[in-house]
Amino acid sequence: MSESFHQHPLRGLTVDGVAIDEVARALGTPCYIYSAAAIRDAWQALDGAFAGRPHAIHYALKANSTLAIVRLMRALGSHVDANSMGEVDVALRCGFTPREIVFTGVGKSSAELERAVALDFHAINVESPGELDRLDRIAAAKGVKARVALRVNPDIDAESHPHISTGLRDNKFGVPIALARELFVDMTRRAGLTPVGVHIHIGSQITTLAPLAKAAHAASALARELLALGVPLEQIDFGGGLGISYDETPVPDRAAYVRTLVEAAGDIPLTLAIEPGRSIVGPAGVLVSTVVDIKHVPGGRRFVVLDAGMTELMRPALYGAYHRIEPVRPRAGASEPADVVGPICESTDRFARDRALAPLEVGDLVVVRDVGAYGAVLGSTYLRRPLPPEALVDGGTWTTIRRRQTLDELLQLEA
Ligand code: LLP
Repeated sequence: MSESFHQHPLRGLTVDGVAIDEVARALGTPCYIYSAAAIRDAWQALDGAFAGRPHAIHYALKANSTLAIVRLMRALGSHVDANSMGEVDVALRCGFTPREIVFTGVGKSSAELERAVALDFHAINVESPGELDRLDRIAAAKGVKARVALRVNPDIDAESHPHISTGLRDNKFGVPIALARELFVDMTRRAGLTPVGVHIHIGSQITTLAPLAKAAHAASALARELLALGVPLEQIDFGGGLGISYDETPVPDRAAYVRTLVEAAGDIPLTLAIEPGRSIVGPAGVLVSTVVDIKHVPGGRRFVVLDAGMTELMRPALYGAYHRIEPVRPRAGASEPADVVGPICESTDRFARDRALAPLEVGDLVVVRDVGAYGAVLGSTYLRRPLPPEALVDGGTWTTIRRRQTLDELLQLEA
């Protein structure tokens, strides 16, 4: 839970002292607002918990890759995990060197592998035997060795939402541990490959440490065997996945999570890497929206209709995800249940069902909480809705880090 958001008696909901309605007035709604302090605190909590143990935090850009956020990560000393060439270019433009980037992805094209080899990333997280072969050929033809972290699939249930679980046999990710063992040993004989690490990532929004501990033990056991076999590993990359509390039920804190990984690794003489996304930026962002209609179906539901919908925040429609919603300036009176919906012509365009909400009127501002991760990045322009702006609050002031897209910009690609 972020300490950055507070109700002020006169100024309504604030982010690190900045009134949300002041930002919303200037930018219009819908808009995203992030707290730099909350992001820093979260990153430092993870970093500090390694307590001197050699480690690397590869922030998962997929969670939020707005340039200002990525630059903030760099200023903190973070490294990054890029899942596409677009994210790679974002990282490079923000000043990361290729050796501060790990490159992930379950379907890397030959062109992407070519470029990955040329850039010489810290590691290419490889997902399959076929990809290893392609990478080997590409690197050998250039007379270089690609640095490989092979992703293992430990067949462990992350106990998260099935759509964001990745560590089961049935999932498309990684290779089974027994096969990984063979592939690692084989890699030491390949002209174009250097095995540098074991990689694992069993899913996202994981709210109990048990599956993460189990996966960390599996990866560590494999790494120990490989070291004994003479495979020259440098790191274990435990992936991301630590969940946050969307509904205020307690979740493991960041330090406890890191301690779990450190304990699983025991005395292995390797760098411990992680790829956290949500746990760093998730709680640091809100989506601000205006109530555009309140509709009471006689004898039926009450609908609060917002100017933000699944085009700005896809998580509820995609995963049935829960996000807290609250007025920026609460009115006196009892809460009443309502369905909070967006303006899009899809019935899944609903942020909440039967949610007890303080009294609201048309024109009121509300925030949707904990949208710093997988919020803006998953936005779309369905219905020709331009992408919303984003603001960053830092040191008591705010700046626009992305302005609202215009319709002209949206149509620029078309004849
Ligand atoms: N590493 C790999 C290989 C990943 O696939 C992911 C997330 C991460 C790291 C970062 O995981 P995190 O620490 O953020 O849990 N759109 C979904 C989440 C998809 C996660 C995809 N992979 C959502 O809105 O919940």
